[in-house]
Amino acid sequence: MSWQATILTLFPEMFPGPLGHSLAGRALRDGVWGLEAIDIRGFATDRHRSVDDTPCGGGAGMVLRPDVVDAAIGAALAAGPARPALVMTPRGVPLSQTRVRALAEGPGAILLCGRFEGIDQRVIEARGLEEISIGDYVLSGGEPAAMVLLDACIRLLPGVMGAAASAEEESFSQGLLEYPHYTRPTEWQGRAVPPVLLSGHHAEIARWRRAEAERITRERRPDLWAKLHPDAAGAGAMDGRPAAA
Ligand code: ADE
Repeated sequence: MSWQATILTLFPEMFPGPLGHSLAGRALRDGVWGLEAIDIRGFATDRHRSVDDTPCGGGAGMVLRPDVVDAAIGAALAAGPARPALVMTPRGVPLSQTRVRALAEGPGAILLCGRFEGIDQRVIEARGLEEISIGDYVLSGGEPAAMVLLDACIRLLPGVMGAAASAEEESFSQGLLEYPHYTRPTEWQGRAVPPVLLSGHHAEIARWRRAEAERITRERRPDLWAKLHPDAAGAGAMDGRPAAA
């Protein structure tokens, strides 16, 4: 049984979208993973086919109804193996490579895409939905966030990426951002490729790459750097500014 993604959305026509192209698209056609996009509106019960209502307590926007969302989740669960059920929301736990790896190792995922102001809290609790955010910014809906999560999982499925080693070395796998890459021409617009990369000395190249990965991580992501060097946290790495080189 391949990795199964079920999307619950008011815009099923958005899928597979970008996931139908490149590596994910080929893997989809090859049956490495499967995708079903279910229209939440199909579970509305009134003659207006309404899926949302005004927020209790007042305020702007609309809230997805618990009964409609619950019926959609029930259908998703019935359609495939037992899988983690996630809801994409900016108030969720930040998505991490660790969570992506765990999801990719499982049977798949059910992803609920929010719209409007939110989703009735009772169905989130009743179904034990895991709330996931892809970053500290607000999208107009959860669909692009679901695509991001799926893309991150799919590339880790066996047979999707050509060279497994490139996945291993990439950003985050060792808690560091990636070192810079270069190719030919060795001189371009007056800019030379760092000579060590042309030296043929594998140990020196590895050392240079490690040092560059550390420098870039320190400068751009003091939060990641502090995780690797908790003892240095008090020495400036946690204050949001790059540590001294
Ligand atoms: N829906 C809207 N914004 C989102 C975000 N940042 N992450 C996940 N889902 C979202």
